[in-house]
Amino acid sequence: MRILVVGSGGREHALVLALARDGDVEVHAAPGNPGMAAAATLHEVDPMDGPGVAALAAAIGARLVVVGPEAPLVAGVADAVREAGIACFGPSREAARLEGSKAFAKEVMAAAGVPTAGSRTCTTPEEVAAALDAFGAPYVVKDDALAAGKGVVVTRDRDEALAHAASCDRVVVEEFLDGPEVSLFAVCDGTTARALQPAQDFKRLLDGGRGPNTGGMGAYSPLPWAPPDLAATVLESVVQPTLDEMRRRGTPFVGCLYVGLALTAAGPRVIEFNCRFGDPDVQPVLALLVSPLGPLLEAAADGDVSAVPVPAFADGAAVSVVMASAGYPASSRTGDPVVGAETLDGDREVDVVHAGTALTDHRLVTAGGRVLAVRAVGTDVADARAKAYEGVAMISFAGAQWRRDIAAEPLGVVEGAGARA
Ligand code: AMP
Ligand code: GLY
Repeated sequence: MRILVVGSGGREHALVLALARDGDVEVHAAPGNPGMAAAATLHEVDPMDGPGVAALAAAIGARLVVVGPEAPLVAGVADAVREAGIACFGPSREAARLEGSKAFAKEVMAAAGVPTAGSRTCTTPEEVAAALDAFGAPYVVKDDALAAGKGVVVTRDRDEALAHAASCDRVVVEEFLDGPEVSLFAVCDGTTARALQPAQDFKRLLDGGRGPNTGGMGAYSPLPWAPPDLAATVLESVVQPTLDEMRRRGTPFVGCLYVGLALTAAGPRVIEFNCRFGDPDVQPVLALLVSPLGPLLEAAADGDVSAVPVPAFADGAAVSVVMASAGYPASSRTGDPVVGAETLDGDREVDVVHAGTALTDHRLVTAGGRVLAVRAVGTDVADARAKAYEGVAMISFAGAQWRRDIAAEPLGVVEGAGARA
């Protein structure tokens, strides 16, 4: 089976590696990154160009296209692929609004009876002020539109909350949710879903959950402290009602529904929906997946996930530690030579997941905010964590930033505490 993965980040590299493991799959990626070249054939295509992606998929005879990032999904790239008669894992433009508009996601959750933070959608400063006072501190203010992980402000400072709202056209102000955060990925066929193993993502830049929010600085899976029935509970209380509501609206959701949850004292509450796998959170999950990924994504794209067995995971744990470039997340420095990544080639337990890397004169250099992640599997979280950090110690580039405490606190209340600071 020939599969085309669209995108160039860590999520897409992890997908390529997992798909390539299946053996009977030939993986192509567009535009891809230097790390993928060993496992996939790379093609030059703008991931935002729907007709271009569809034409490439047709030209290489792809059985399935997997669209990785949210921006092309929200722009309708999956629609263009399906219109060309090729199966696609990834929601339509309409269904991707679950991530593309926070207000829309809230509306769907309300209609579906999904447990989430109470919220108000506001467009004027008066509405914002009233909502802040109604919910009280800590204040949570979210840009309604896609903002690459930078649209949310959680603060006790009312003026900061007001200022963030003033910088956006429309915001969602919501109740603060207290509890460890969990990422759950549901592989959806439009009607029903299969859950992958839960993971936890460390979203703040600095140790102890301090500093600005980022796209994610590291992740681990499984969560030894989480309730064993968490995935089943979330499938039943969140994913299925959401799929039913999207179908009722005539916009079925096919692809990964990423459920970001807070495990509060009152039970799991949805913090956000995304319309694709999380990065880096999906990296450790895919490292442990032992059932084939290609047939699962294919079955979802074809409309029947029940055609394949429930996803199975290896015992043990996996940890990814992100190394980011100088200046991230406010900016990123490009062109710094990356040294040592190749020393991990061929290691069975540790690999390098590329994101913002490029080759210049055959040398690996930084080319984005999150440059790469070192990912390791081990007998438990502590073992995987130790191996991941041994890998980090072998890689260097000027200005590299990484957290020292990824997966150090399996109780996972670190980020929640940070958000309250
Ligand atoms: P989001 O982009 O919606 O995932 O928000 C980014 C981060 O802000 C989340 O990962 C949480 O750490 C935090 N956050 C968002 N919404 C809430 C909330 N209602 N209560 C507490 N923290 C939140
Ligand atoms: N790691 C969070 C995200 O992918 O949105």
